[in-house]
Amino acid sequence: MSLTHFRTADQSAPATRTAPVTIQSLQDKKSQRRPIVALTAYDYATARVVDEAGVDFILVGDSLAMVVMGYDNTLPVTMDEMLLHTRAVRRAVKHAMVVADMPFGSYQVSTAEGVANATRFVKESGAQAVKLEGGASRLDLVRRLNEAEIPVMAHLGLTPQSVHRMSGYRVQGKSVTAIHHLVKDALALEAAGAFAVVLEGIPMEVAQRITAALHIPAIGIGAGPHCDGQILVLHDLINLSFSAPAKFVRRYGDAAALITDAVNRYRSDVEGHQFPGEEESYHLGKEAMAALLQEEGRARLKA
Ligand code: KIV
Repeated sequence: MSLTHFRTADQSAPATRTAPVTIQSLQDKKSQRRPIVALTAYDYATARVVDEAGVDFILVGDSLAMVVMGYDNTLPVTMDEMLLHTRAVRRAVKHAMVVADMPFGSYQVSTAEGVANATRFVKESGAQAVKLEGGASRLDLVRRLNEAEIPVMAHLGLTPQSVHRMSGYRVQGKSVTAIHHLVKDALALEAAGAFAVVLEGIPMEVAQRITAALHIPAIGIGAGPHCDGQILVLHDLINLSFSAPAKFVRRYGDAAALITDAVNRYRSDVEGHQFPGEEESYHLGKEAMAALLQEEGRARLKA
């Protein structure tokens, strides 16, 4: 949108929309075995496009540290940065549920700090839920967030905030002991009040068993096809993440190629005096033009 093109409310939005997504409607999808569709988004423009395409929930993921801010991992992004992006997403979204990812350091120090930071997401950015990583060590926080009326999405398996402890981004849940741990954590998080669980980077056979054991929706990323829903990082889906895609990513578009082509053609038009043209320029009105020419004529005579 250029600054001189004023947006009218919702002109490009589809005329009819289904009701906004809620925890109950996600739960209904699980019961009816209708897959839940989720994506990340981090700004107004992409959130608007993603929402209007009809996804069920949008995660303002801390993956923004990598795909938007260019860090090597998700650890550096701050509460204030996450809040800024969540607000932008919230302004764009009319249908999907907006889930804010709690950044590293915002809930690990104490339960009280976790509740305070989650409250900021709801109060200051309009997020409808928060997501946090981890199992048994998060049960107290999940309970407290429920008491504070803040819906929580849990996240198990390959939890990127544990990158150093895991010695890199590695598929989790590969031994029988690890599988037991994951199942136990998932059930405990459900009992503590989580309304959904993201399962990341685990064998599909394990995800299938956890999904079947849970009453709440299990959302997979690199966890195979048997979860109740799927989530991907938008920038991976459209080739804007500048890294070799993980095994579980499928590319549905090439935004990098689209943007490169548009920028190249723009540069070439500017350099070749082809942009802007007449039709992209403002013109003086007849009277003002005549007055200007007259004044320029007088000035020439005097000179
Ligand atoms: O930060 C993120 O994008 C995530 C994933 C689940 C996609 O946590």
